[in-house]
Amino acid sequence: MKIFKDPLKLQKWAKAQSKAGQKIALVPTMGYLHEGHLSLIEKAKAMKADEIIVSVFVNPVQFGPNEDYEKYPRDEKADLAKCKAAGATAILFPTPANMYLDRHSVYVTEEDLSKGLCGARRPGHFRGVCTVVAKLFNLAHADFAVFGQKDYQQAQIIKRMVRDLNFDLKIVVAPIVREPSGLARSSRNTYLSAEEKDRALALSRSLKSVTVGKSVKSEQARIVKALEQSGLQVDYVEFVDGETLDPVKKTAKGVCVLLAVFDGKTRLIDNRVL
Ligand code: PAF
Repeated sequence: MKIFKDPLKLQKWAKAQSKAGQKIALVPTMGYLHEGHLSLIEKAKAMKADEIIVSVFVNPVQFGPNEDYEKYPRDEKADLAKCKAAGATAILFPTPANMYLDRHSVYVTEEDLSKGLCGARRPGHFRGVCTVVAKLFNLAHADFAVFGQKDYQQAQIIKRMVRDLNFDLKIVVAPIVREPSGLARSSRNTYLSAEEKDRALALSRSLKSVTVGKSVKSEQARIVKALEQSGLQVDYVEFVDGETLDPVKKTAKGVCVLLAVFDGKTRLIDNRVL
């Protein structure tokens, strides 16, 4: 497996692979890899990528001033071993200084799908995500990139960015990977105490309980109550059109239910497409 620290060296290598006709997959991550990330590498293998590039970068630009950038879990050595075992063929470990050069001043902003949900609660977050993902697309020369459905809004925004800015690659969205308890895998789960982890199960339980043909107003109220009774602080419970992310009034096939809560100090998100 090739290991790159310098994004431009990766770009040069990836360009040569692409020119030689190799099919390249990109798996962007912030590291501290878990089975959710490994399923993205599996997906790239299943899609017959010749080269699978995993980027590991805790992107400072997508964190707000009071968020967990500093304490976000990091473990380069373990990530390296996991990527190798999973079948990645290249890994990029850039630093903030070599991703964002002195006086970096160009950003990518998506102005429709980013307005609600996490975009409303985390100002600037998706601007940071779009900017780093656009840079990774330009570096990796990928034929396709794999993202997890766990970050549903992010995946829709990236698809829109690819469409609107004519990036020449396909976006693949892989299903959420859950712990046997139902808890969606996330690097942030490491922040949770045993008690908080237990409480967090109310997320997947609530998602499972939603059926089609119901009024969103009553479903929303029911879920908010269930989450609060479990000791979680609700950030949002939203029912939206799976593509436009516009709010809907009735639960129906294709509607996405998105939840965000605070479990103690940890913000958790989860979702389900009906
Ligand atoms: O989903 C993530 O881990 C990040 O938002 C991403 C896509 C790697 C960009 O930093």
